[in-house]
Amino acid sequence: MKVLGIIGSPRADGNTDLLVSRLLVGAAAAGAHTEKVRLGDLNYRPCDGCESCKPTGVCVIDDDLQPVHRKLTEADALVLGSPIYWHGLTAQTKALIDRCQCFWNLRTVLRKAHAGARRPAIFVSLGGQRQPRFELAIPTVKLWFSVLGFAYTGQLLVPNLDSPGEIVRREDVWSHALEIGRDLAVRR
Ligand SMILES: Cc1cc2nc3c(=O)[nH]c(=O)nc-3n(C[C@H](O)[C@H](O)[C@H](O)COP(=O)(O)O)c2cc1C
Repeated sequence: MKVLGIIGSPRADGNTDLLVSRLLVGAAAAGAHTEKVRLGDLNYRPCDGCESCKPTGVCVIDDDLQPVHRKLTEADALVLGSPIYWHGLTAQTKALIDRCQCFWNLRTVLRKAHAGARRPAIFVSLGGQRQPRFELAIPTVKLWFSVLGFAYTGQLLVPNLDSPGEIVRREDVWSHALEIGRDLAVRR
């Protein structure tokens, strides 16, 4: 069981990083092999709409997202984390999603869906406001999960969180994250 965690915050060791890592610790404790990708560490371009992926289902931009595409194909379960920026996903997260247009074409044009059952996936998000607009980010994440062959099986949404590292003091969320990670690893 491979669980892939994607950190869409540019802030290493920030709240998203810590919270996604916590889910992965829960998954590892339940026997999963876990891997974490920090988008902020990668060098990649946004989708340029060239449509080269339309007849092939493969993105021609040769940068750090190529191995991420492979990991997304091979994962048995996924945790996507993005803080809310300007009522939506971070630019790093949205650029990854746009660069998955190749998967859209694979599914809708070439009719090659991901083999097997839909894999479980969790959306982790947080924001500094008392009521971050999670509902504006969720439809994009749901569509992305579905196109890549993941089912939106859960979410962990945390408001009122700004300083890096503050998440570890939210004891209820911190222990719930461990449970969500464990449940993800035993699901299937
Ligand atoms: C450019 C920018 C835009 C932001 N926009 C929002 C927003 O619209 N709503 C919100 O609740 N928080 C917003 N925030 C606050 C972050 O979501 C918050 O600080 C979060 O804890 C950052 O997560 P991280 O530690 O994982 O980077 C914004 C922060 C930045 C830097």
